[in-house]
Amino acid sequence: MKRHPPIITKVPHMIHGADYNPEQWLSEKDTVWQEDMRLAKLAGMNSLSVGIFSWAALEPEEGKYTFEWLDEVMDNLADNGLTAVLATPSGARPAWLAHKYPEVLRVNGNLERIHFEGRHNHCLTSPVYREKVTEINTRLARRYKSHPALGLWHVSNEYSGECHCELCQEKFREYLKAKYKTLDACNKAWWSAFWSHTYTDWAQIESPHDKGEHSIHGLTLDWKRFTTEQTVDFYLRETAPLKKITPGVPCTTNLMAGYTGLDYARLSDVLDVVSWDNYPEWRGDTRDIGIACYAAYCHDLMYGLKRKPFLLMESSPSATNWRSVAKLHRPGTHILQSIQAVAHGADSVQYFQMRKGRGGSEKFHGAVIDHNHAEAQNTRVFREVAEVGGILAGLDEIVGTAKPSKVAIIFDYNNEWAVGDIKGALQGGTGYSRTVHEHYSVFWSAGIPVDIVDERASLDGYALVIAPMTYMLRCGFAEKVTAFVDGGGAFVTTYLSGYVNETDLCWNDGFPVPLKETLGIWSEELDALYPEDRNSVEWNGKSYEAYGLCELIHAQAAEVLGVYGGDFYKGRPALTVNKFGRGGAYYIAARTGTDFLRDFYARLISEARIECYSAPTEGVSVQVRSDGERTWLFALNFTEKRKTVKLNSGADITLDPRGYRVVEL
Ligand code: GLA
Ligand code: ZN
Repeated sequence: MKRHPPIITKVPHMIHGADYNPEQWLSEKDTVWQEDMRLAKLAGMNSLSVGIFSWAALEPEEGKYTFEWLDEVMDNLADNGLTAVLATPSGARPAWLAHKYPEVLRVNGNLERIHFEGRHNHCLTSPVYREKVTEINTRLARRYKSHPALGLWHVSNEYSGECHCELCQEKFREYLKAKYKTLDACNKAWWSAFWSHTYTDWAQIESPHDKGEHSIHGLTLDWKRFTTEQTVDFYLRETAPLKKITPGVPCTTNLMAGYTGLDYARLSDVLDVVSWDNYPEWRGDTRDIGIACYAAYCHDLMYGLKRKPFLLMESSPSATNWRSVAKLHRPGTHILQSIQAVAHGADSVQYFQMRKGRGGSEKFHGAVIDHNHAEAQNTRVFREVAEVGGILAGLDEIVGTAKPSKVAIIFDYNNEWAVGDIKGALQGGTGYSRTVHEHYSVFWSAGIPVDIVDERASLDGYALVIAPMTYMLRCGFAEKVTAFVDGGGAFVTTYLSGYVNETDLCWNDGFPVPLKETLGIWSEELDALYPEDRNSVEWNGKSYEAYGLCELIHAQAAEVLGVYGGDFYKGRPALTVNKFGRGGAYYIAARTGTDFLRDFYARLISEARIECYSAPTEGVSVQVRSDGERTWLFALNFTEKRKTVKLNSGADITLDPRGYRVVEL
């Protein structure tokens, strides 16, 4: 393990800042902008993200550029010792651009071109849009390439969605031609003889829009892959001038951990650093334990994309206006959510946003500076933000450290798409993400660090790899798992694994074909249970509830550890292990509650000698970061009670309600 260099070279500290939209205050800039600088420093900030939605202010008419205000903002930042996370403005286009070139507007699933509105809704294929974005990005890069404030490029904002315009449809066909070479190969990969869907001309293929084809799962998958590739391609186009003109400045785009419309694992291949926007729905009561566990999962998913420190690009210091209930963060919550991010590998805490706007749909979103300008520094929220600033300033030594995880859980975006399309079993409710999170929650509660990675990731260095519901086995994954187990690793997979290949075609010869030998089983049938139905898994002298999905498997080389307790498959294997090479491959055939998962993983954790740093304490999360020589432990109390955590070193740590501690081990 090693220490990674600081993400922004000139900021060898935890980055602390916010989205900053000074162009909304142009007419009051003389008073407001200086106050912004004063308050940023008072809050212990060292960076601000600028220009995210500034296109109309930078190019108010086609070809007429007004960078002067941004020059002043960049100078203000530099003069005040702040770094600019400088954005490209493509997340929202100006009205004149949409009006003059309607092709830049997205065509929705209903095949209607949307009108000028909102943001994040442009066509990523449109040559005009690409050209205009390249132009403005080139100008930004040229203008600020030597500016002392420039630290990082924030490319666009939350890339998402898809476009069904003719340009995109044509690109999709090109993508398919390049992938399959012949229509025959494409038809075969899609099993299109089904319902007489054989294509005889590439021109007959359309995206899976709302009025079109949804019965060919291979097509739907390829469309999602294409949408990801188009986004990657757009990002590369956006960053080409940045890379050329400012080669030393890293680029990122902010992700949304729960979003599955893009394959983030693929997108992150082209990012220099992963960044993401975290908005947990804190409730202010015991439900916060579950919320904290999900936020932890999101952080680990984002960390796993590159397995190195990431940036928390946005978070709300208080209410999140788009939640159905925009509840205030209870005192202490903001600090806790910020330290939680760092505990999971973030080298920054940033907010949306610095100053609340007076108008627009986000005027009631939590912000560092509230509407009452005279009391700006006296608000509860500002004080907590400033406290975070103070805390982060004391964590320099942790910058660049990694997460020493011995456990990997597989979450794969392609698999998520394929499972989501299953017609059968539990239809849309099969719940891949939810299941992965359920397995993850056991480790979170036990204070064991976990990496969440996709099927393409290397498994080197892990002792335990868990791949719940790996319905689609992507090329190379089974071979990697087999080598991992052979080399001494413990591998766990579950019901609904190994059913289809990468184009969503079922394997012949019994699931989970490519892993049959490693797991020593074959699966014959999958039973789907009504919500009120229950079965059980009998294991280790105990009976655990099984529900939802129960697979009927045959143990071949595998040893049967647990059996079903009911129904016509009572006594048949429900939990198996295959000793393979120096390791073991486990199959959990039924969906169970976390009680089973907790007991089962407790045994594997002890067998694999995975380090636990503390005794599990309800509502307390323990995480670690390390550079291989020095290790820091984070203990975070997500309850309203005082808690004492027993560390393995023998020491006790006492945590206040919603309190935290960082200690070097
Ligand atoms: C997203 C966007 C921001 C802002 C916040 C509000 O993360 O990137 O521009 O809209 O949501 O929560
Ligand atoms: Zn389009």
